[in-house]
Amino acid sequence: MYVMKGDLQGIWQEGELKPYGNLQVNPAAGVLNYGQAEALPLVEALDLVEDDLSAIFPGGVPWKNYSGELDGLNVHIVVPGKDKALALQPNLIINAGTAGGFQAKGANIGDVYVATEFANRDRRIPIPVFDKYGIGTIEAIPTGNLIKDLDLKEGKVSTGNSLDMTLQDEEHIKANDATVKDMEGAGVAYAANLLAIPMISLKAITDIVDGTKPTVEEFLENMSTAASALSRTVPPVLKYVSGKNVADL
Ligand code: ADE
Repeated sequence: MYVMKGDLQGIWQEGELKPYGNLQVNPAAGVLNYGQAEALPLVEALDLVEDDLSAIFPGGVPWKNYSGELDGLNVHIVVPGKDKALALQPNLIINAGTAGGFQAKGANIGDVYVATEFANRDRRIPIPVFDKYGIGTIEAIPTGNLIKDLDLKEGKVSTGNSLDMTLQDEEHIKANDATVKDMEGAGVAYAANLLAIPMISLKAITDIVDGTKPTVEEFLENMSTAASALSRTVPPVLKYVSGKNVADL
């Protein structure tokens, strides 16, 4: 029995369940991939019990499996489980990582920037309204006191999927007035916004995007400098935020 539902994720093939890697399921089985809240009434209706498949799921995934039998069929319901961010229930996310920086906007190797705004540079959807969704500008939470008291630099971040920069990327970066070029900030900010969790993004500069050195070379050369800068910056930031209201940052 193979059962599908509207919001099902994954590809279903007889005897082979691609999304679950090595998971081998009896071909006479139904596996549904539901959110927990949607799945539990069905788990009850089918009289399934939680059955630990952690030994065959890929390591580290939070998936849960409920198993049972219906008219001779083995039935499994696999639910995605709790996302780690939700399970931890953080009241602040700090996104600390490396980035490229624009010297024309004052960036130097090893600087650590606090992001003030995020925008995507390579989600090009040239249709009114959709274009705004593609760029997805998100303002960071105000952290003026943190920036001033810890003497940090601040700047707008441009996020995309590539380390290099096409001419179109460059246009987008200029349009959003970015100082920092990374590959995750806008995505993390989007997820944090959805979860209504405040987020601070700290970006250490590994390479000068508008400089003369090839990006890959410069990035690799300065990775440890940037990592050290982050490890010097994050602890004071943690101490600073500790016990404060987000509104006072
Ligand atoms: N991370 C470090 N350097 C980067 C760059 N130049 N572009 C995007 N992400 C980066």
